[in-house]
Amino acid sequence: MPTKNIEDQLAELQSETGEQHVAVTFTLNEVTQTVVLPSRTLVSDAIRHHLRKTGTHVGCEHGVCGACTVLLDGKPIRSCLMLAASLEGRSVTTVEGLVEPDGTLHPVQQAFKDCHGLQCGFCTPGFVTTIAAFIKENPNPTRAEATEAIAGNLCRCTGYQNIKASVLRAAEITRERAGESPLGQDDESSRASLDAKVRGTTNPVGGRGSKL
Ligand code: FES
Ligand code: FES
Repeated sequence: MPTKNIEDQLAELQSETGEQHVAVTFTLNEVTQTVVLPSRTLVSDAIRHHLRKTGTHVGCEHGVCGACTVLLDGKPIRSCLMLAASLEGRSVTTVEGLVEPDGTLHPVQQAFKDCHGLQCGFCTPGFVTTIAAFIKENPNPTRAEATEAIAGNLCRCTGYQNIKASVLRAAEITRERAGESPLGQDDESSRASLDAKVRGTTNPVGGRGSKL
């Protein structure tokens, strides 16, 4: 039996569901695919429900919390604010796609592990993708720059001190992997982050000084 072309499939879906559908071809975590979706589908829903990459979390659903952040052509975006129909020809990276093919964690993922940068983990994928883009642009941040980098992401568990330590640790790991000195331009914050790595923790989570 001949395979239906995409226009016929879309017309059939519209008559079955009463809802307009679109076919979108884009790359998700290095795999290019064409998906057929209701035209009003958000990027976050396409990723989670249609493509089953559930590492991307959805919190506020209106662009405030940052939990749904993914990388679009390498830049962080709020996937709850964008229609999947506009992904044609673009490349999306989720938190799952940051892991190397051999299983090596991305420097930001390793840093969250080293510095206990997560508690319940709900906000974590959004922080990790946000920080991954930031570290790429600025592999040698100061503590103030690290604080600013995460200012648009919310953590209800209030572990901001450990998340900030994770930003600095991620920068160190990036420099280490590039064969550079792990100490950065802000030696004091770098030493604090390295101390955290050695101790396996930073300030008490949720304790005094844990706010941003
Ligand atoms: S779920 Fe998208 S910003 Fe909160
Ligand atoms: S670790 Fe729980 S919301 Fe951030």
